[in-house]
Amino acid sequence: MASAIVLGATGIIGRELIKELSAHPSQWKSIHALSRSKKEDFGNPSVQQHHIDLLNSAQDMAKDLSAIRDLDAVEHVFFCAWLQKATEKENADVNGAMLQNFLDALEITGAVSNLKRIVLVTGCKQYGVHLGQAKVPMLESDPWLRDESKWPPNFYYRQQDILTAFCGEGSKHPEISWTVTYPNDVIGYASGNFMNLATDIAIYAAVNKELGRDLEFPGNETFYTKFDVFTSSRLHAQFCVWAVQEPKTANEGFNVFNGDVQSWQDLWPRVAKHFGMKVKADQFASPAPKDLANLVQLTEKAPQPVTMLAKELGLEGAKSIPPSQLEQRISLVKWSKTEEVKQAWNRLADREGLQKDALEKATWAFTDFILGRNYDVVGSMSKAREAGWTGYMDTWKSLSDTFGELEEARVIPKTH
Ligand SMILES: NC(=O)c1ccc[n+]([C@@H]2O[C@H](COP(=O)([O-])OP(=O)(O)OC[C@H]3O[C@@H](n4cnc5c(N)ncnc54)[C@H](OP(=O)(O)O)[C@@H]3O)[C@@H](O)[C@H]2O)c1
Repeated sequence: MASAIVLGATGIIGRELIKELSAHPSQWKSIHALSRSKKEDFGNPSVQQHHIDLLNSAQDMAKDLSAIRDLDAVEHVFFCAWLQKATEKENADVNGAMLQNFLDALEITGAVSNLKRIVLVTGCKQYGVHLGQAKVPMLESDPWLRDESKWPPNFYYRQQDILTAFCGEGSKHPEISWTVTYPNDVIGYASGNFMNLATDIAIYAAVNKELGRDLEFPGNETFYTKFDVFTSSRLHAQFCVWAVQEPKTANEGFNVFNGDVQSWQDLWPRVAKHFGMKVKADQFASPAPKDLANLVQLTEKAPQPVTMLAKELGLEGAKSIPPSQLEQRISLVKWSKTEEVKQAWNRLADREGLQKDALEKATWAFTDFILGRNYDVVGSMSKAREAGWTGYMDTWKSLSDTFGELEEARVIPKTH
């Protein structure tokens, strides 16, 4: 029986990991859920919640960790914490320091003695999907966008550099191995977190229903028919637990996607049906509402990630890849601030007994980004499959299951 520490235990990724580990009490003796807040009641005797502030010094964190009774029996660490900052430079500095100080705290306490594997959760910013079109499909072997004269600092690179200096072959602790995951557009439940696609879509649908409107896709026509890959936080948790027990995943990074490839032309009508609504048949035929539309040229900020490989791929000077941009017919950031929306939400929340601050806490800028791209985001699961991973999750199922969780948590009204 093993023991584990999960950092970021209240987040969309970490919370599901706690649930997955605690669902197998014959394999996991104690599970330590670490975060600043204790907003979750995991309701399982094998889960012990502890306070930690990763912004503290290694010495202070070591004091926090010493509250864990069987610390020297911990074999696996899952690092799923992150803090969103205003710039990529700050993201790299702060999230890098959080990981470094925590690893140092493991050393100070002697917790390294029994450690076998450290899993670090990152994402597809690895491939530069936040900067524009990356090569598709994205492969773990694709080169990193390291040249900071062209691309902004990347906090995932910073964290991976720190992790691989600490453990794995040729490092300070070669006896401890590491695994890094690259999920994308995560679907799952969490309260008050930084990136939450399913919650945003559910609230957008509930408000439009309250206003008696059809469900209009807020992104753009191009992305509606482009391809995207998603990661169910439940499937991701299953992957992490499998990975720490599989020697072939030691000292390797892996894409972790559901296993299907999806597009909103398929998902959006299902979302509408789920909420008892319909998609406006000609939703892209009329010009976007001027006061709500938004357009950002990503290519003006940094070259598209795919250009890194253009020569090798035979795409130099090719016109097949249009400049990457973000375009929303209805920017959710703007939409959520309109009086009409705020009033409709307050009415709905009062009538149905919903969490009133959910509109304000939603991650509208994130979902504006996800739905507003004009490029495919598709990655391969071949590396994980070659290592023996057989997990799969239907993306629509993960989305509709999450809508069910949001209903239970009174974030949105009951649909049935
Ligand atoms: N969500 C997505 O769609 C998505 C997509 C791709 C990749 N990812 C990546 O997945 C990783 C995990 O993200 P997530 O979406 O699961 O994050 P999240 O839901 O926003 O949760 C963040 C977690 O970090 C904890 N945390 C933040 N600051 C902390 C601090 N100073 N000390 C201790 N704990 C702290 C938070 O707990 P407290 O606030 O309670 O401290 C929370 O548990 C990140 O690298 C993210 O970039 C996420």
